[in-house]
Amino acid sequence: MAKLTKLDDIVSLCKRRGFIFQSSEIYGGLASCYDYGPLGVELKNNVKRAWWRASINMRDDVVGLDCSILMHPMVWKASGHADKFADLIAECKKCNTRTRVDHLADKAGKHTEHVPLDTAQKDAQSLVNKVCPSCGTIGQFTDPMPFRLMFETKMGANVDDSMTLFLRPETAQGIFANFKNVVDSTRVKIPFGIGQIGKSFRNEVTTKAFIFRTREFEQAEIEFFCEPGTDEEWYNHWKEFRFNWYVNLGIKKENLRFREHDPDELAHYAKGCVDIEYKFPFGSGDWQELEGIANRTNFDLRQHQRGMRTMNDWYENKGDLGKITLKAEAEDYEKGPLSYFDEQQKKRFIPYVIEPSAGIDRSTLAFLVDAYDEEEVKGETRNLLRFSPALAPTKAAIFPLVKKDGMPEIAHNICDDLRKYFTCFYDEKGAIGRRYRRQDEAGTPFCVTVDGQTLEDKTVTVRDRDSMEQYRVSTDQIKNHLREKLDI
Ligand code: GLY
Repeated sequence: MAKLTKLDDIVSLCKRRGFIFQSSEIYGGLASCYDYGPLGVELKNNVKRAWWRASINMRDDVVGLDCSILMHPMVWKASGHADKFADLIAECKKCNTRTRVDHLADKAGKHTEHVPLDTAQKDAQSLVNKVCPSCGTIGQFTDPMPFRLMFETKMGANVDDSMTLFLRPETAQGIFANFKNVVDSTRVKIPFGIGQIGKSFRNEVTTKAFIFRTREFEQAEIEFFCEPGTDEEWYNHWKEFRFNWYVNLGIKKENLRFREHDPDELAHYAKGCVDIEYKFPFGSGDWQELEGIANRTNFDLRQHQRGMRTMNDWYENKGDLGKITLKAEAEDYEKGPLSYFDEQQKKRFIPYVIEPSAGIDRSTLAFLVDAYDEEEVKGETRNLLRFSPALAPTKAAIFPLVKKDGMPEIAHNICDDLRKYFTCFYDEKGAIGRRYRRQDEAGTPFCVTVDGQTLEDKTVTVRDRDSMEQYRVSTDQIKNHLREKLDI
């Protein structure tokens, strides 16, 4: 990977080739929101398809779900997000910029230690040496205050029945809220998982460059329900399974690693968590999280049982979450409405949960960056994206060598036929060498050229992106040949 040594190189590659654009760019852009261009959306859809296939369709112990983004506010009271999903921020009195307290550094560059919200020192005294990253003023901060990371919105037109809702900050809660529906409506037996892919939203205070920390993002999450006591075994299973998924789709093993969370980094629901990180090539290597695998214990289902017990208070307080305290857990909570009855063992329990939670946007970028390559060919630099066939946005490009002698018609026919099975691109513009190069840059694994010999013996030239090898295949075999090569 010769040239992608700066984040700007990646941003520019993504823009130039139509993978990722800044959102609302014609109006100056919207901070930390991004759009996927024609090649980007195909790549991202393929990443999601590959995740769904490997994690759901090819397993007999995981089923799928697609929950709404807007959910009852009590979901977020019970999950803990309404009260605890916040960053501690302080405002610079000079320039009014708000910064996360754990992102403030002193003149020597030393950061504030990360401390959980409920134990953090919440007075300005703790920030006397800290420098405002915006205007450079030292120690002129307000007292730190919590800043809720969930976006709020309103539902309903009438004052009486309108309510404040939150855009979900994780897809996971939709799964917990449907745990009983899935158990009651299918034949799943513990251990089993429920997976879904969808958008989540977090009103991040500090957004990192490009798509590493965005306010709107897509997650692919599995909540895997298992018997208490078997959770460590499943945690290890999912660590390995998810790591191998990236490797099987072409990411170089040396660019991936596990990073266990320190106890003070753990989310409020987690007993343990490990990240799968990818080594992005800027600077001296920047390890970024692609996925977290957490042991959520039985925290969430227990909390939702408490939430269900608190619904009277919700009505009495007209939905004001600030006035509601979750009811204490029932003494026989193990037999509560979200418990599971194990028929074989004749035993009821609240399942433990292992959660592999992947960031689709970051993974998509990692697949793109890892596939990027440059090589010298006959004194010229060839840029290419060595995507695994499953992820390549376009699977095959079809060319007539020249725009005459019926070649465009034959090429169009082949293209129309192949399009029924996978994504194809027809191109008749420019010299054939340039057309090959354009497809190399888009990561298209195969090019098919209709040429003079096609008119004689009904064969076409197939050109392989990675080896640049060219060989002939009969037109009536081209579909089967490419499907076999592409494994689709
Ligand atoms: N569900 C875990 C997360 O969103 O980070």
